[in-house]
Amino acid sequence: MKILVCGGAGYIGSHTCVALGQLGHEVVVFDNLSNSTRVAIDRMAELVGRPVAFIQGDIRERRDLARAFAGGVDCVIHFAALKSVGESCSRPLTYFDNNISGTITLLQAMEAAQVSRMVFSSSATVYGNSEQVPVTESAPLQATNPYGRTKLIMEELIRDYSASQPGFSGVLLRYFNPVGAHPSGRIGESPTGTPANLMPYVTQVAIKRREQLQVFGGDYPTRDGTGVRDYVHVVDLAEAHASAVRWAMTQQGCIALNLGTGCGYSVLELIRTFERTTGARVPYRIVERRPGDVAELWADVSMAREVLGWQARHGLERMCEDAWRWQLNNPDGYQVA
Ligand code: NAD
Ligand code: UD1
Repeated sequence: MKILVCGGAGYIGSHTCVALGQLGHEVVVFDNLSNSTRVAIDRMAELVGRPVAFIQGDIRERRDLARAFAGGVDCVIHFAALKSVGESCSRPLTYFDNNISGTITLLQAMEAAQVSRMVFSSSATVYGNSEQVPVTESAPLQATNPYGRTKLIMEELIRDYSASQPGFSGVLLRYFNPVGAHPSGRIGESPTGTPANLMPYVTQVAIKRREQLQVFGGDYPTRDGTGVRDYVHVVDLAEAHASAVRWAMTQQGCIALNLGTGCGYSVLELIRTFERTTGARVPYRIVERRPGDVAELWADVSMAREVLGWQARHGLERMCEDAWRWQLNNPDGYQVA
C-alpha cells in the first residue's frame, strides 16, 4: 500500500513511518518541517533499510498537496498540526489556520484525488476536564484551550465529511500521553526550547541539562497527591496506526478510538520508575498546580482492542528506558548528529 504521511517527520509520525516501512508499505512523508528536521527522515530510512520518499510541503497549500497525490495514494495519515497548548493560548489564529484550515485543504485534496481513507491524530485533550476515569470514547467532548478546540473541530470536520461520502473511512485516534522512543535510540522526541510535557523534562533533568523538575501540584485527590496519566509507548502507537490503516482499507464510516495502556501512573511513580530503571537521578520540587490540569485521566482501551485487535505491549519501565537511551545518544535531540 502507498501511504501519504502528513506530518510524518515529527515525533509520532517518524515512528509510524518506520513501523509501516518495516511492514513493507510504501511511505511518502509530507511535512513542512515547521517542527521537525530532515535528519529524522534520514534516520527513518536507516531503520527501514531503504530510502523514504519525502515531499517538503504544507497541508494548507493546494499545489504542494497536488504534488503529493500525483503518484496515487491509498490512505492518508494526518499528523500535521501544531500541538503546544500554551502557544495556542497566545496565538490562537495561528493554530486555527494551521490545524483547521490545513485539515480542510487536505480533505479537499483527498477528494480531488479520489482518496477516501484517513487516519487522524486526535488527542485525549478532546475529553477536557473529564469527570470519570477510565474515559470511554462516548464520554462528553469539551475543549479547554485553543489547541484542544482545533482537535475537536478537526474531528468534527472529518466526521461530517465522512457522513457525506458513502465510501469514506476515517479513524480518529485519541492518544493519551505518548512517551518513549525507538529502541535503537535513533529517532525520538526532539522538543525545541523548554519541554512542556513531563517525560522530555524528566530526561533533560536526568542528563543535567536542567537543574530540577517542577512537579505541578502535590495536593490532587490521587494516591500520592500528584497528577495521574496514561503514558503510552510511541512504538505501540506506531503499531496502532498500522492496524488503523488496515481497518480503513477494509471498512467504511468514521470511528474514534482511545489509544493508551488503560493504566494510570502518578508523576511521582513515573519519576521513581525512571530512576530505578535508568539509574539516573531526577531531583524534583513540588510546586503549585499547573492551570488547566486535571487530577487524573486514563483510557478505557477496550474499543481499540475490539475494533483494531491492538493493545499496548510496553510498560512504563520500557518507556523510561527507551526515552533515556534516546536522550543519552542525542543530548540535543536532532540538533547534533
Ligand atoms: P510533532 O510536532 O513532532 O509532529 C507534527 C509534524 O507536523 C511536524 O513534523 C511538523 O513539522 C508537521 N506540520 C505541522 N504543521 C504542518 C503543516 N501545516 N503542513 C505540513 N506539516 C506540518 O508532533 P507529534 O508529537 O508527532 O504529534 C503528531 C500529532 O499527534 C499532532 O497532530 C498532535 O496534535 C497529535 N497528538 C500529539 C500528542 C503528543 O503528546 N505528542 C498527544 C496527542 C495528540
Ligand atoms: C498535555 C496537554 C494535552 C496533550 C498531552 C499530550 C496540557 C494542559 N495538556 O497533557 O493537551 O494532549 O499533553 O501531549 O498541556 N507535569 C509536571 N511537571 C512538568 C510537566 C508535567 O508535574 O514539568 C505533570 C502534569 O501536571 C501532569 C503530568 O505531569 O500531571 C503529565 O503532563 P504532560 O506531559 O504535560 O501531559 P498532560 O498534561 O496530560
